[in-house]
Amino acid sequence: MERVTLLAPPKLNLRLLVGPLAADGYHPVRTLMVALDGPADVVRVSHAAGRVVRCPGVDGPGNLAWAAIDALERETGRSLPAEVVIEKAIPSRAGLGGGSSDAAATLVGVDRLHDLRLGVDALERVAARVGSDVPFFVRGGARWGEGRGERLTAGTTPPFAAVLLRRDPGLATPEVYRAFDRLPPPRPPAGPGDAPGSFEGLAAWVRNDLWPPAFALRPALGRTVRALAAAGAGPVLLCGSGSCVAGFAPDVDAARRIAAAIPGDGFRAVVTPAAGGVRIVAD
Ligand code: C5P
Repeated sequence: MERVTLLAPPKLNLRLLVGPLAADGYHPVRTLMVALDGPADVVRVSHAAGRVVRCPGVDGPGNLAWAAIDALERETGRSLPAEVVIEKAIPSRAGLGGGSSDAAATLVGVDRLHDLRLGVDALERVAARVGSDVPFFVRGGARWGEGRGERLTAGTTPPFAAVLLRRDPGLATPEVYRAFDRLPPPRPPAGPGDAPGSFEGLAAWVRNDLWPPAFALRPALGRTVRALAAAGAGPVLLCGSGSCVAGFAPDVDAARRIAAAIPGDGFRAVVTPAAGGVRIVAD
């Protein structure tokens, strides 16, 4: 195998319930994550003499893809030289999991490049050492995450479309969790634990406990929310720890109309739930 090309999709947290800071420095979550069809990063993994990670803005050891290869080397006890080139379509620090998805794609790509044949369960286990959201992207689809988000079980989502809109400066996840700690704890959720089966039910059920801290750090998010609501989205939800915001619609046509009705610039995309996660598109 000379080179592996993968697509790394973004995700949405349809529900993100956050508990108080635990002794390990993380917050226990219960979250329904859904991989998205829409703009995806392209990750190319090829043989190299050593290790190279190229990604606009985050080259080298600062990239989660680098940590992903470190974790694979520890797991296998082998040196795994590779060049990883990441072409970004998913904005960074947006709450869409782009960096985590790139890291998962790197795990799957290096596994294929070096013919490691670790299998999905082992890849998920290694992914959990790289970051809380990385294991999700190995299988993707709709999955519940618990613990830090890395303990995964099967989930379901009714069909939906969403308009992603990112106009506000990026938010760093640790900063948002620190702001969460300074606010009163969220109220326990009312209503069903599992996702409803219809779009109407989903619209009333989506929730993100990181809204108040993200909003405290970026009051301008209110304008982005109002732009989506004024264009007809219902409901509107912060993506992960922000700063991207999603406006929901029952189908793609309605989402396209909403996207077209929003004036101004910034990242915007129409997305739908994806059946899988990171995907090899060419060897
Ligand atoms: O796991 P990951 O490296 O993506 O997490 C980044 C940071 O976000 C952690 O160091 C922690 O501060 C915060 N975090 C958290 N609770 C989680 C996930 C992340 O507090 N469930």
